[in-house]
Amino acid sequence: MYSLIQKILFLLPAETAHHFTTKSLKWLFLLPGIRALFKTQFSIQSTSLERNILGLHFKNPVGLAAGFDKNGAFTNEFEAMGFGFIEIGTVTPKPQPGNPKPRLFRLKKDQALINRMGFNNGGVERVAKNLKNKAKSVIIGGNIGKNKITPNEKAVDDYLTCFEALYSHVDYFVVNVSSPNTPGLRELQEKEPLKKLLQEVIKANKKQVLPKPIFLKIAPDLTNEQLDDILKIAKELKLDGLIATNTTIERKKLKSPAYQLEKIGAGGLSGAPLCNRSTEVIRYLRKRNKNIVIIGVGGIFSESDAIEKLEAGADLLQIYSGLVYQGPGLIRKINHAIINKS
Ligand code: FNR
Repeated sequence: MYSLIQKILFLLPAETAHHFTTKSLKWLFLLPGIRALFKTQFSIQSTSLERNILGLHFKNPVGLAAGFDKNGAFTNEFEAMGFGFIEIGTVTPKPQPGNPKPRLFRLKKDQALINRMGFNNGGVERVAKNLKNKAKSVIIGGNIGKNKITPNEKAVDDYLTCFEALYSHVDYFVVNVSSPNTPGLRELQEKEPLKKLLQEVIKANKKQVLPKPIFLKIAPDLTNEQLDDILKIAKELKLDGLIATNTTIERKKLKSPAYQLEKIGAGGLSGAPLCNRSTEVIRYLRKRNKNIVIIGVGGIFSESDAIEKLEAGADLLQIYSGLVYQGPGLIRKINHAIINKS
């Protein structure tokens, strides 16, 4: 069934297909019985899928990665697809249009995507408003970032604005410093600026009556030394978790022709070619820190990709490109495989 839907969607430009899909889902869910139909089709309930992590109850460990529901407008629809958690964002304080279109491309031969969306989102106030109607029975993560026009020296203020505005609407936070599509953002992964940024967010969190888990989302292009620095900071500041990984700027070993890649230009690569590297990063982090919570993301297209990431040390998983190429049935397949393994 999904292969037919995919054939039609792939006739459209990638970003048009994305908006068409999410809007169609919204309309479809207005029809009586559709939500229940999705639930029976895609959701699985099993105690062996449940995870209690950092005080949060996940009904299964397969989540939707950031970037798919940037404005937190479709949590009800994705919950019915069987996700155990949904990460909304990246959200910035002010609304921003993102980079000029086209900015999302399919590399079909590689089962991959390249995007340079540039944190297009409706701004934190609108997202907070959307989340008033969020799905109730699923964990929601808030992935936060800075506006393009905010210089890195003032970035902390942007993260704090988003933190405060989303605090009562999300269950955990993700400090995103790893998108390749906001100029200079990844410099915030360097030791000193990263420490300062995380310190301030953690300080704001501690002021709350019920502090929420804080994650840092990292790039797959970091060296082992940079990963060591991040682990050191994480330990020192008692950061709750890491999300490994965001998209890569690498273009090695792709099957797509060089002229196609040149025509597409800059952006973050996601999907199948990212799978091994993100698993490698997860394995490296887990070897050096047994306790930190790791959400594994990058190129999960099958049950075996998912199991491999869990065996490398991930506690939870997220998918994005796999949903585009394999459809929502992938969530159920992965959850079945996890039940069979347990
Ligand atoms: C992303 N991703 C992303 N990540 C993030 O932290 N904030 C964001 O706003 C976005 N936006 C975004 C847009 C698009 C179009 C894509 C394809 C990806 C990265 C995403 O959450 C994930 O980390 C990577 O895509 C790797 O996972 P997959 O796609 O290989 O499963």
